[in-house]
Amino acid sequence: MQEKLAICLLASEVEPLSKTGGLADVAGALTRSLHRAGHDVRLFTPCYATIDRAGIEAEPVEGLQGLSLALGPNHYVFSVLHGRLPGGAPVHLIDCPELYARRAIYTSDPDEHLRFLAFTRASLEACRRLGFAPRVLHCNDWHTAFAPLFLRTVWAREPLFRATRTVLTIHNIGYQGIFAAERVADLGLAPAARELLHPGDLAGGRINALRHGILYADLITTVSPTHAREICSAEYGMGLEDSLRARGAAVSGILNGVDYEKWDPRRDRYLPRHYDAGSLAVKGELKRQFAAREKLTTAPEVPLAGIVSRLAVQKGIELMFEALPKVLDERPLAFVALGNGEPRYEEFFSALERDFPGRVRFHSGYDDELAHWIEAASDLFLMPSRYEPCGLNQMYSLRYGTVPIVRRTGGLADSVQHYEPALGTGTGVVFDDFNPGALEWALNTALDLYAQPAHWARLLRNGMAQDFSWERQVGEYVALYRRLTAA
Ligand code: ADP
Ligand code: GLC
Repeated sequence: MQEKLAICLLASEVEPLSKTGGLADVAGALTRSLHRAGHDVRLFTPCYATIDRAGIEAEPVEGLQGLSLALGPNHYVFSVLHGRLPGGAPVHLIDCPELYARRAIYTSDPDEHLRFLAFTRASLEACRRLGFAPRVLHCNDWHTAFAPLFLRTVWAREPLFRATRTVLTIHNIGYQGIFAAERVADLGLAPAARELLHPGDLAGGRINALRHGILYADLITTVSPTHAREICSAEYGMGLEDSLRARGAAVSGILNGVDYEKWDPRRDRYLPRHYDAGSLAVKGELKRQFAAREKLTTAPEVPLAGIVSRLAVQKGIELMFEALPKVLDERPLAFVALGNGEPRYEEFFSALERDFPGRVRFHSGYDDELAHWIEAASDLFLMPSRYEPCGLNQMYSLRYGTVPIVRRTGGLADSVQHYEPALGTGTGVVFDDFNPGALEWALNTALDLYAQPAHWARLLRNGMAQDFSWERQVGEYVALYRRLTAA
């Protein structure tokens, strides 16, 4: 039997405690799967004011209360709580109301970098005080990307961390945690250690958190193999491509998994009735119920397209500005959108709802139940992303018999294959170019397939048979950890 690994995971959001996007889903599911596989995994996350402490039976950890933390001129007092995720995996919360009791998980407050530098430092300090010696320290995104550098500097002489190897997973390269070089003291590094900071960025007046993870983590992953190649190019690297290319084979991609306990129409807790590939009439019934609740006036046979998304530039919403009104004008189609974010996208969807009464509904906000309903009730799901490290909703859609329309990028390219009518192969509609004409083509292609019941049935069956479960994907992480710890 292989040795069980001691793994410390750091994540700035974790489902079901705190969530703005897929990072939370992944942090929660990866922790649960590693725990289930018998590894000693401990997840650390900030204790935001909105977290339901009772729900995870959070208790103060003895001896880890009222600890002080100095980051240069900044002083904080933090405590550590211990709780359990559903399924029993341990979670440690870093409690520091001064930093985490804010209006939102992420802010644009001037101390945003300090909130997560403090979280990273406090988590490692908690490990030390708990006598927990991780073989693998797995950090995620810019928020915890300084952890590998802190191990090499602040804790360079700590015996507990001598065998610790580090992994950085990049979920979103669009957010890098950049702050002004004049705040360098906020890192709390000794002057000699500052020499390890990226000199080019410093000369340009910046410190880039994500870049330091890329420079100093033993291995770097992102959340799909295609995106791992993409981020090494100028088109997708967002200025970090040189640092990534310099790491060569240390950069790889592991596709995210899906939590089918939550996202499966056979057991979805938000749906009044359940279905699978053999009972698609139930999906039709749910669509009718949903259309009534949404006050859509289109006939039941009219296809319904859905979208659930953060409304950020990454998601390619502007392709819809031209393509959606055109297709809605020309063909029978209903459309439901759920999302929040940049005002220009919210305004577009609100205007679309006004222009196509009874055919378009827009919900501004974040709503878990509605997200599940949209997956179940829709025929088509749109993800025309400009870039998409992995993307989860297209994989949810496949399981729900909701045909994904995606751009061929990142994880979308790795999880959806274009349907070939002549062969009956493929699981969705895939387009290449980032322009409205390409999205319009994809929508029309999907609607043409919808009008051909034999092809549509085949397409749905192909998609519903896909398996992206974490049980499979977690094996890839464990293999990566073993490669690292054996080296
Ligand atoms: P990203 O992390 O870039 O936002 P993903 O596709 O990986 O993209 O994950 C998004 C997750 O957040 C999915 O679980 C999706 O259902 C959820 N989500 C996004 N926006 C909303 C919303 N407005 N309401 C409910 N869930 C949402
Ligand atoms: C990100 C990416 C998304 C990915 C998620 C979880 O925010 O935008 O593509 O699925 O992280 O890894």
